[in-house]
Amino acid sequence: MNFKGKNILVTGAAGFIGSNLTYELLKLGANVIGIDNLFNGLIENLEEILENKSFKFIKGDIRDFNFLLEVFKDIDIIYHEAAFTSVPQSILMPESCNDVNVNGTLNILNAARKKDVEKIIYASSSSVYGETPSLPKEEDMPRIPISPYGVSKMTCEAYMQVFHQVYGMKTVSLRYFNVFGPRQKDSPYSGVIAIWLGRIIDNKELIIFGDGEQSRDFTYVKDVVRANLLAAEHEISGEIINLGAGSPITLTELGKLMLKLTNKEELKIVYSDPRLGDIMHSFADISKAKELLKFQPKYTQEEGLRDYFKWYCKKYNKNLIIS
Ligand code: UD1
Repeated sequence: MNFKGKNILVTGAAGFIGSNLTYELLKLGANVIGIDNLFNGLIENLEEILENKSFKFIKGDIRDFNFLLEVFKDIDIIYHEAAFTSVPQSILMPESCNDVNVNGTLNILNAARKKDVEKIIYASSSSVYGETPSLPKEEDMPRIPISPYGVSKMTCEAYMQVFHQVYGMKTVSLRYFNVFGPRQKDSPYSGVIAIWLGRIIDNKELIIFGDGEQSRDFTYVKDVVRANLLAAEHEISGEIINLGAGSPITLTELGKLMLKLTNKEELKIVYSDPRLGDIMHSFADISKAKELLKFQPKYTQEEGLRDYFKWYCKKYNKNLIIS
């Protein structure tokens, strides 16, 4: 698709994935409206584009239907990245998770339908698969989530499909597998790579919840952004597509790799109790993304980690020697 002059709305634009997507859309010449309630998102994630004439940031909440009706004017495509993102937090606050993820997404679909938005591309999650034994995960495998977060993402995928079937809207769900990279927040409820990078910089040991044998298919955010662009470009709708690197590593391997790349092998890896709601293995079969989106990941995990660490050190003026 030629994004030049297209009107795109990104929900969760001040968040990790939303902000990366917004920067890329602006580079491609799109007009972008970014919305965010700044609960998880940070305005500093958008600081380089706040003055850009093709970009408008509006603070607001996806749970506010009237707000959505106001901002969904002449929008061609919505990238829906706003979410309650933490699995452990969803166990502490299942209602809030449902409210933001399910009610918020339903609001978006309803408002988009009223305002004739052309297409919605939704950020789903590998957590919908839950603990089923078969690996790698293929899209038509059963969805048996084991956390309120997983349930919320599964429900939203189903809504995306139903709005396609019932109302003929164009919707696509991309099932993200553990995305990492620039602008991911380092907070207790953030993704493991951002947390561990913060600890490496502070010379603290890395903590693994469980025996470290759990595995994840960590996917670099630049690949995720590219797949989102492809999902708009290709004439597909009603689809759910895995978006992963297709090469899982265990948490222990990840810890060792991060310490090696940052030349901090003297730091320890310590093991703690497993985390409730944690799935053991997550590994994407990405054949469908290759076929429908012509997507091929460009970054191995190691390349992604290096790129991310270099970005981080430059941005925050940190002194790490990256191998
Ligand atoms: C992550 C995302 C979720 C997304 C899903 C699939 C976050 C906060 N969560 O969930 O939004 O839908 O991927 O794309 O971005 N761990 C440790 N030590 C730590 C932190 C975590 O051992 O200090 C372990 C966890 O127990 C887990 C693994 O690392 O086994 C990954 O955890 P996390 O990064 O929180 O991601 P997911 O729960 O997989």
